[in-house]
Parts: sequence; structure tokens; C-alpha cells
Amino acid sequence: MNAPHDLPLSSFDDEDSNRSDNPRFDTVLAARLSRRGVLRGSLGSALTAAFGGLSLAACGSDDEAAAAPVPAAPTETLLGFTAVSKSLADAFTVPEGYTATVVLACGDPLFAGVPAYRNDGTDTGYDKRSGDCHDGMEYFGLSATGTPDAGANDRALIGMNHEYVSQQFLHARGPSALPRPASETDIEVDCHGVAIVEFAKTGGKFACVQASPFNRRITGLTEIQIAGPARGHALLVTKYSPDATRTRGTLNNCGTGKTPWGTLLTGEENWTGYFYRAAGDQALRSAKVNTAFARYGRNVTATAAAASRYGWETSGSDDKYARWNTSQTGSSANGSDDYRHELNGQGYITEIDPYRAASAIKKRTALGRFAHESAAFATPVAGQPVVAYMGDDAQGEYIYKFVSAATWSAADANPADRIAVGDKYLDAGTLYVARFNDDGSGQWLPLTLANPAVAGYATYAFADAGDIAINTRLAADAAGATKMDRPEWCGVHPGTGEVYFTLTNNSNRRTAPTGSQTKVDAANPRAYSDVRGAATVQQGNVNGHIVRVKDAGGNAAATSFTWDVYLFGAESTASATMVNLSGLTGEQDFSSPDGLVFSKSTGLCWIQTDDGAFTDASNCMMLAARPGTVGDGAAVTLDYGSGVAVTTRVGKKASPATLKRFLVGPAEQEITGLCESPDGKVLFVNVQHPGESTSSANLADPSKYTSHWPGNAGYGAGGSAARPRSATVMITKNDGGRIGS
Ligand code: FEO
Ligand code: CA
Ligand code: CA
Repeated sequence: MNAPHDLPLSSFDDEDSNRSDNPRFDTVLAARLSRRGVLRGSLGSALTAAFGGLSLAACGSDDEAAAAPVPAAPTETLLGFTAVSKSLADAFTVPEGYTATVVLACGDPLFAGVPAYRNDGTDTGYDKRSGDCHDGMEYFGLSATGTPDAGANDRALIGMNHEYVSQQFLHARGPSALPRPASETDIEVDCHGVAIVEFAKTGGKFACVQASPFNRRITGLTEIQIAGPARGHALLVTKYSPDATRTRGTLNNCGTGKTPWGTLLTGEENWTGYFYRAAGDQALRSAKVNTAFARYGRNVTATAAAASRYGWETSGSDDKYARWNTSQTGSSANGSDDYRHELNGQGYITEIDPYRAASAIKKRTALGRFAHESAAFATPVAGQPVVAYMGDDAQGEYIYKFVSAATWSAADANPADRIAVGDKYLDAGTLYVARFNDDGSGQWLPLTLANPAVAGYATYAFADAGDIAINTRLAADAAGATKMDRPEWCGVHPGTGEVYFTLTNNSNRRTAPTGSQTKVDAANPRAYSDVRGAATVQQGNVNGHIVRVKDAGGNAAATSFTWDVYLFGAESTASATMVNLSGLTGEQDFSSPDGLVFSKSTGLCWIQTDDGAFTDASNCMMLAARPGTVGDGAAVTLDYGSGVAVTTRVGKKASPATLKRFLVGPAEQEITGLCESPDGKVLFVNVQHPGESTSSANLADPSKYTSHWPGNAGYGAGGSAARPRSATVMITKNDGGRIGS
């Protein structure tokens, strides 16, 4: 997510443990000033005078074809649709010849007997309704008789993340001040987590099955098992689980993954801000524990507490509220009488079997603890380890991959007990972090005590593998990983096996950094100013980029790789030599790539935006892309003057045949999450937090809402005066063809 722009919640997203004192984007974005020139202002004028500095050289070429899994039929042209124009309309716009239909929105009933959603702030019982802020999702096919069938096109379970809450719309007059009423906290906790929802198709279109026995809600309070190296660890002892084997809830669920054995993985992203830590708590804790708190954004001093984003810990003495205070309040030596370790229970990849509504849920701690986004699997190869790629979305954080100890057996693809198969592949293995070298090579650095850089780290003495699983960021610091521009989703190209990572933006990237700012490097080469009128509204890597990685020898478990930058986000009118390095036109320009999913049917790469920079020109959007391969472009040198020059590797420039805007969403939302029917003919995407800047003070006057979607599209109560709702949209092609043709 990007932070809600006008709300004080902003400090709880995009958490920055590097302690930047930069002004945040969020405070300046709401001013919808007229279009501006990029690279004007102080930096820009200096640059335009100084440049010429473009140099081209051939990169190592690679003839490996970018094959789609199912070739287009002779009558089908992928990217044959007409590009959708940038738009500020409060509408969901798809290309001519396509239809978009809302199929599930925040608050919709998922179980029998649950009343219809009134959408006026008086609804309750969200543990039996769709949660809020729909995010990543995955498709799990069901046969006509209700058995798992990965190839099923007519009946499916969708596993969906509910990242956070558009808090003002959940209550009649918006959220109350602290202390928060328990009734409001209960609603908000229940709106978080994950939903498993059955959809069935009739007449070519899917609809939600309200009372399906498969439907399930996992909330911020659902019991979850701790699995992997941190299970039973001293750092996870709580009053709720003195043996450190359980916790409650999965929080701020952002990206997703689908395992080769048919389970849902959900990534816990900006969880740290849900927990209150009292001023003075640092004096009660060890130096090592305080180092860990600081690295995960919960530092306190004698006078400054770490406030929580929603104040759930203020709702009473009941244990379900007290747990949100991660201060030492008890007198035990090990933390079994309080929630001093509760923060360590979040930040994982959590595994859910969508096919069994009563199955245990497990946090897979071997995959590390950070601001998780998606988990993308390499195509499994019999006899080889299973490999999953991941990103940590905060400024200057890292890219990771997990390589299982067990080797893949095809017999595990459709097992009777999916969670047991998860135990086999996800609880033992090696977690690596990426170092991107300036010469286009890279290394995967192991986060184990066998790595001397980790074992001998002066800043933090790791006790064991469980300590590394819990304090992954510190281990990655020790290993020497490369600070990236906010790694969001990743995806594995189904034809080439190359891995694409969105780097959404980074206001902390500079050519001449001070304080906690990070200097431009080959893999994060841009730092510039975005100017509207006379005002510089953003600096750093304003529009984000997509880096891609080719593991050595086509072996996903390899410890070295080559890389290039597949695509740079930019405005089409920005400097072609310093900003718009991929040559984007008005049919392609975008900012802040976030969601990224490859279609297993068409091979298309879907790119979704969560943007606060280009939003004076367009609402957030989704593009369809046909990428090539690492090294298909050229080396480019960005000469910033004053002796600062960075040579990066840019993928082949975009063309109408390789990149096209497919949809634009309604006002003040992000497009996120994508799944499809196996035949590629039905695509689901999520619209998150439309109308997010609407203030509680304006709830009584619908004319002041900044969005009314999807009510204004005919979905649900309220019509064109409705409170906006996060929602799932089904996209079909009117001629029955595959999506993206
Ligand atoms: Fe929830 Fe990093 O987006
Ligand atoms: Ca985001
Ligand atoms: Ca995201």
C-alpha cells in the first residue's frame, strides 16, 4: 500500500528503519496542481545543461526466447487491444471489447444468514464478511464435485488479502479518538487478514457463492502456528503461547503467492505500526532487543513512545486488546506474562490451505521476517530444490530468495495434506539476500551462521537460526546486501524463468546523499526532481522501476545471477536521457509499479501501479507487457555532474507491441492483486481504497466524498452517493477471447 494521503496513518506505511528526515510524499500529493515539467527546478536545470552524457554499449546478449506457455492462436494478437487513456474519472475503464464486473466488495456477506451490507458505517460481523482493502489474490480451481482441480475454469476458490482498512468508511462518523471503543476495534481487526471465497461461473461469468462451505475468514485474531526455525524460540514467548508455538492473526497482508502444491501464501507487510511500545521500555530491555526493535521501526526513548496506527491497544484490558502493546509490562523473566515479544509474531510468509476450511495455518519463518510482498516460485523441477523469490517493501530494503532443503517430487503437486507438504518444503532451507554488482552480475548471500559475515556481525550477535529468521533484516545488513528502491511484488517469467521485481519508488535515493539517504547505484540509478509549477513535489526515484534477475545457468538455486532494469516508470514527457529511459509514450507511461503477475496462460506480464506521483494526470492503472530477456537492451550512463555518474543496464525500449495500458481504476485507489482462470479468459483484479482522502468530517455530505465507486457503477447500496469500497473486479472479453488480446 501507499500511505493514505491525508490521514495521520501515513507514518505507519513505507516504514523506514534508516531514520530518514525527508519530507514525505504524502503531505504534498493531495494538491492537484497543474502538470509540470520533470527535471526542472534546481537539479533539473543543472542536468539539462550538463548532459549529453548518454553512452551506449552492447550488453551481454541472450538469445533465449521469451516463450508464452500457450501460443497465441493465428487469430489472436496479444496486446491487440486499444490502449486505455490516462484518466482521472471515478470509473473503472477497460479497453473497448472488454467488460468489467464487480464481484466482491468490502462487507459483502460470505456466510449464510449474514445481512446484506448497508454501507453506512453501521454494519458489523466482518469476520463473516469480505474484509477491507482487497490486495493480492490467487485462484484455486475446483472440479464440479468440489475437489481440487488446478485446471478448472468454471468453479474456483479465490484466496484474497485484506491489507488494512479505509477506517473512516467503517464507522458511521469515522473512527473515534483514543481510547478506541472496543466495538470499533473489533470491526477493524476483523476487516484485516485473508478471505477464502468460492466463485462459480454461469453464462461465462463468475459470481460469489455466499454460503459455500469452503468460505473462510482469517482475521487479525485467528490462531496461527509458528513453523520453521523460529518455532519455540525464546523471542516468541508470549502470555498467549508460553511455548512460543502459536500467535494470533496475519496482518497487513499485501502480496500473495501460490505454492506448487496448491496452497496460498500471504505476505505480512506493514505490520510493525500496529503495535504500541511505551516510552521508557528501552530501559527494561537488553541492548540486543533494542537493536532489533529499531531495525523494525519500533524504537522508543525515555520520553517518546512508538504510537500504534489504530490504537487497538487502548480498547480495554481484555487480552485481545492488550496484545497490541509490545512493551514489557509483566514481571516474568521470559515474557510469558505479557506481550513484550508480540511484535516478533508478525512479518512472515503465512501458508493457508484454501481447500480445507478447518486446516491449520502456519507462519513459515524460514522465509524470513520483513515487510513481505509476494512470494513467486520458480517452476519446480523434479529432484531440484523448490525456490521462492521475495521482496521487502521499505526504503532501502532488500530482495530475497528461499531455497528449500528438500528436493521437488511431482507427487507432491496434488497431495491429500497440503500443509504437510508445506512443512516439507518451507520449514528447512536457506534464505539468501541479493547483492547487485555494478557490472551487471550479482550474488545471493546466505543468511546462515555458516556465513562469517553473519556469524561475526558486530551490531547484533545472532544466537541461532531462529534468531536469523526473526531478525532477518539485521542478518541481511551483515551479509552486505544491496539497498533497493522499495521491492514490492516479484514474478517469474513462465517462459524464461527470469525473475522480475518491482521497485516502486524511493524518496530517499540521492546523487549526493546525506544522513540516511542512499546513493544512486547501477541497480537503482535514478534520482531526480518532480516539479509541479514552481514547487518540487518529490525527489529521489520518483516513478520507480522493474529490475530483473537471471539466475546462473538457468538454475533457480544458483548463488550468482546477472541482472538488468527491464523497465523504468516515467512520464512520457520526461527527459529521455535521465528519466524516461525506457522510451515510454503516452499509451504506456506509468509511475510506481507495485503488483506484478505473469499470466500462466498468455505469458503476459501484468503491471499494476500504486502511485502518488503521476496522480495529477491519471488514477492508478494496469498495463500489459511482453518482456524479453535480461541483456536485450543496452548500457546507459546517467551523468549527474559533480563527478557522479552511474552506468546501468536498461532493457529493450518499450514499443506498442510490448507494453500497453490496459485499464485505469477509479479515484484515489490502487490497482493490486491479480489472478486468472487457467484458460486465460477471466481475469480478476482488485481496487483498493478508492476515495481514500475523504475525511471523516465530510461523511455526512456525500457530495464531498472523493469517490463513490463501485456504487456509482451500480454495485451495492447507495448508488452514486455511496461510500466507496475496495472491491474485486472480474474482466472478460466480449468475444470470449483471452484477456490481453
Ligand atoms: Fe502493500 Fe508494498 O504495498
Ligand atoms: Ca505499494
Ligand atoms: Ca503492494
